[in-house]
Amino acid sequence: MVAAPLPIYATRHWYCAALSRELRSGRPLARRILGRDLALLRSRSGSVHALAAVCPHRGANLAEGRFDGDTLECPYHGWRFGLDGRCRLVPSLGPGGRIPRDARVPAFPVEESQGLVWLWLSEDGPPKTPAPRHAWMDGYRRMPGVRLYPASALDAFEITLDAAHLAFVHRGSLGRLAPELPDFEIQHAEDGQSFSAVVRLSGEKPIEQPSLIRRLSRPTPWRELRAHCDLSGVAVSALRSDGRLDTAFALITPAAERTCWFFGGIAQETTPAWPVRLLSEWIGRRLLREDQRMLGRLLGREHGEFEQPLSVRSDRPALAFRGLYARALRAEGKAPA
Ligand code: FES
Ligand SMILES: [Fe+2]
Repeated sequence: MVAAPLPIYATRHWYCAALSRELRSGRPLARRILGRDLALLRSRSGSVHALAAVCPHRGANLAEGRFDGDTLECPYHGWRFGLDGRCRLVPSLGPGGRIPRDARVPAFPVEESQGLVWLWLSEDGPPKTPAPRHAWMDGYRRMPGVRLYPASALDAFEITLDAAHLAFVHRGSLGRLAPELPDFEIQHAEDGQSFSAVVRLSGEKPIEQPSLIRRLSRPTPWRELRAHCDLSGVAVSALRSDGRLDTAFALITPAAERTCWFFGGIAQETTPAWPVRLLSEWIGRRLLREDQRMLGRLLGREHGEFEQPLSVRSDRPALAFRGLYARALRAEGKAPA
């Protein structure tokens, strides 16, 4: 078990920790985030809480203990911890026993909004801003799913911003796509906390819609593609010529150095007919598996080539992400990843 957050990741921002529906009263959710083992809890009154899961007595995993909605019982010797992390009972000492002052685990700030549970894991003080709200999350018709990726969060960000891999990694599910890509224009937000990679599709060099999806849904053509990226994830929006907007999003949270949580879903302004929906969900799951397989096989990191990778024009969105991330790390006094 790793005690402190991983130094290679930025910590002074909100991370998506879970889907709201994963947290049920009476059952702790064990989740490793930024190398920390946590017990995520929903109290009897419905509030959400995050406690460090390492019991200060002998290091058992508190997330494997019993939770009655108010106190969490360690599975090893039954010490009971309140939602503030303080130990309330040491059963072997009896009801009036003196509880050691250090018998407590850290409790971290958590907020719940839009069906997501956000976590603040920084040790440099409490959050200065509320958890993010995303306009595109308000409209989502389909709940996101969660999976553990066998890749660093940084690689997962990059593949999500990378259109050049589609024609190769996803040949099996998307069919033949033209590999040549139009230029993405990078637009940085004024506060420097996010950017968008935008391509307007005026005709000469359109990004093809994947053939299977095209055949299934007979969509109106895309007018603009926009990948919006901040430190919590990426939302890729396709604006159709009739003004409708479809968004696929991925919130990416480091689990450990080489694994990350990937909360992904689709937001659409209209719900497609159920056969189209089921098929596109099936394709979505295949795409994620294909990405996962590729990321799990990257050799670059082991050979130390990640720091100075060779990049071309189509890597501009990924390079913008690296710039954003390097700035966040510098602001925390950490060397760039
Ligand atoms: S290890 Fe938790 S009570 Fe002993
Ligand atoms: Fe992909």
